[in-house]
Amino acid sequence: MKTVYIETYGCQMNEYDTELVRAVLSEHQYRFVENEREADIVMLNTCSVRENANRKVYNRIHTLRHTRNGDPVLIGVLGCMATNFRKSLLDNRQLKIDFIAGPDSYKRLPNLIRQVEQKGSKAYDVTLSEFETYSDVYPRRAGGVNAWVAVMRGCNNFCTFCVVPYTRGRERSRSPQNIVEEVKRLSEEGFRQVTLLGQNVNSYRYEEVDFAGLLEQVSRVEGIRRLRFTSPHPKDFPHSLLHVVAENPRVCKHIHLPLQAGNDRILEIMNRTYTQKEYLDLVDNIRSHFPDMVLTTDIIVGFPSETDREFEDTVKVMEAVEFDSAFIFKYSERQGTIAARKYPDDVSEEKKTERIVRLNEIQKAHSLKKNRAHIGQTLEVLIEQESTRRSPDDFQGRTDGNKLVIFPAGNYRTGDFVAVKITDATAHVGRGC
Ligand code: SAH
Ligand code: SF4
Ligand code: F3S
Repeated sequence: MKTVYIETYGCQMNEYDTELVRAVLSEHQYRFVENEREADIVMLNTCSVRENANRKVYNRIHTLRHTRNGDPVLIGVLGCMATNFRKSLLDNRQLKIDFIAGPDSYKRLPNLIRQVEQKGSKAYDVTLSEFETYSDVYPRRAGGVNAWVAVMRGCNNFCTFCVVPYTRGRERSRSPQNIVEEVKRLSEEGFRQVTLLGQNVNSYRYEEVDFAGLLEQVSRVEGIRRLRFTSPHPKDFPHSLLHVVAENPRVCKHIHLPLQAGNDRILEIMNRTYTQKEYLDLVDNIRSHFPDMVLTTDIIVGFPSETDREFEDTVKVMEAVEFDSAFIFKYSERQGTIAARKYPDDVSEEKKTERIVRLNEIQKAHSLKKNRAHIGQTLEVLIEQESTRRSPDDFQGRTDGNKLVIFPAGNYRTGDFVAVKITDATAHVGRGC
């Protein structure tokens, strides 16, 4: 039996895909190990969304080759870099990559590996499929309290900055029956929280069922106490979905709503297809249905040609919305995207830094304010693990709104739901008892 070690980079979709890869290879007599030194085959499931994600992987492969110098270890690259950088990865003599598999080719991994072993040649498959949803593969999960479930794959939105439509191909949805079956099995296995994944879940459609309908169906599975999803796109957030989120007690009161930018011209050249006003109206609408909805976002600073004045519109939206938290990124030009072809990356690194520092400061103040508002409240926390931040006598878990809370362990166990009184809070974490 050959041993395999896999490392995952990037988003939750990649985490899920790693679980698919585990399932596929486990059926073919491969055994997974926790340490790269014990492995005959090392695979990196990669991300390509920003340049530093790429760089991390190149550095990692160099280190791997160095530490396993002379060993007959096989190294494979999976995921989003596989599709985009197949040629340069295979041609790179220093990296010595043995095989490459794109996000739609994981069922072929046993063949690819065999090809390398038997013929000694490099093997690759990065074909993108219009149909592959892996609905016949049941992911091999590592455990924990949350299970990821991809409900669709690919993306058709072509935001001009984004590489994902090229690395993951066209949108396709899994059937609701198939998804509900997977969630039932997860419930039987003891999972209490499920997170439904898609690059833009609002595009989910299978025959007559849209995402709101799917969420409703999945929420009826007995035993699943918390249902999350990520990410919806602000351009097409239907009322029916808002209704399910606001009214259904099993659907968590947290919406991740990527803003990207606050200025209409920038939003337009990003091809986000909504305006600042439409975004703010959507937030008002969400809050009119559920005033305490936790809202989080993604923002890009320094998109090509963004002026200081245009950047102020992003500040304005942040001040108006007061997000609970935000992931803020510097624009990173991606090869092959529309922005890379049409718009020179002309905002200086200094400007990008200045802008990201400013937004992070604003966000920190908002996160602190939002988190401190919970002081004195008793919230239901799902315990995830022993605390990584403080003493091992503490547990950490998340509220329905996805806020991290640390509290004394008591006699609880991972996976328990506990009522925790919040006694203190920083911008990142609540402290409770
Ligand atoms: N499908 C998700 C986003 C996936 S990528 C969605 O639309 O919500 C996650 C985030 O990375 C994006 O929301 C965006 O903020 C950021 N991102 C994507 N491409 C980028 C680039 N070229 N430079 C900087 N940030 C980028
Ligand atoms: Fe990228 Fe836009 Fe698709 Fe999200 S919706 S994956 S940002 S192209
Ligand atoms: Fe995810 Fe990175 Fe690919 S964010 S979809 S792993 S480019």
